[in-house]
Amino acid sequence: MPADAEALKRLVGEAAAELVENDMVVGLGTGSTANCLIDSLGERVRNGLRFIGIPTSKRSEERARALGITIEGFDRHDRIDLCIDGADEIARGSLHLVKGLGGALLREKIVAAASDRMVVVADESKLVDHLGTHAPVPVEISSFGWESTVRQLAQLGARPTPRRDRDGVLFVTDGGNMIVDCAFAPIEDPPTLEASIRAIVGVFECGLFISRAECALVAGPDGVVRID
Ligand code: 5RP
Repeated sequence: MPADAEALKRLVGEAAAELVENDMVVGLGTGSTANCLIDSLGERVRNGLRFIGIPTSKRSEERARALGITIEGFDRHDRIDLCIDGADEIARGSLHLVKGLGGALLREKIVAAASDRMVVVADESKLVDHLGTHAPVPVEISSFGWESTVRQLAQLGARPTPRRDRDGVLFVTDGGNMIVDCAFAPIEDPPTLEASIRAIVGVFECGLFISRAECALVAGPDGVVRID
């Protein structure tokens, strides 16, 4: 089996695309692994699959539309049958996640919360014993008063860094908000930390996804493994 990272993403994208059945409403994730999923779903649509996609970002929407996938929104659907998305870290055992390095975490959490099932797709480099080992926790905040919100995040023990592009300009999400990347030492109690972050006025959402994933499909040298 090919072992480079891109090949692993394609492999897990193909495996996850097989979970989609005719007439499902499917949440489409964001990021390079989710792109592989979308590409595989585009291939299946060319071969006759019919489903509705609800994307978690403008770039996933554009990619899916270009491949002929039907895109609709929450104006037409209360619930989503299945959401498939990537992750920056996956905690072995609990399947709690860190998400949002791609900047789409608010939409991703809205879609995950509306989904009957969430399946995470990743290569094995994303598996960790403790969240916060490699990835900061992205937090989506209001651009009004952001300096105050950042100070309150620091009081939780984070080293918060407002996200900027290469030119030093503050990153703006699809929803017009800011992202603060909050480095914590390995996180001992993710559910409590998620609740503390979300309680700060000015925070829209936190990149900790607690008990959202039903399972993870993880690609490694021995193929794709399902972790429950
Ligand atoms: C975007 C995300 C992505 O799912 C996450 O960053 C993983 O991306 P990739 O598959 O490119 O590693 O949460 O907001």
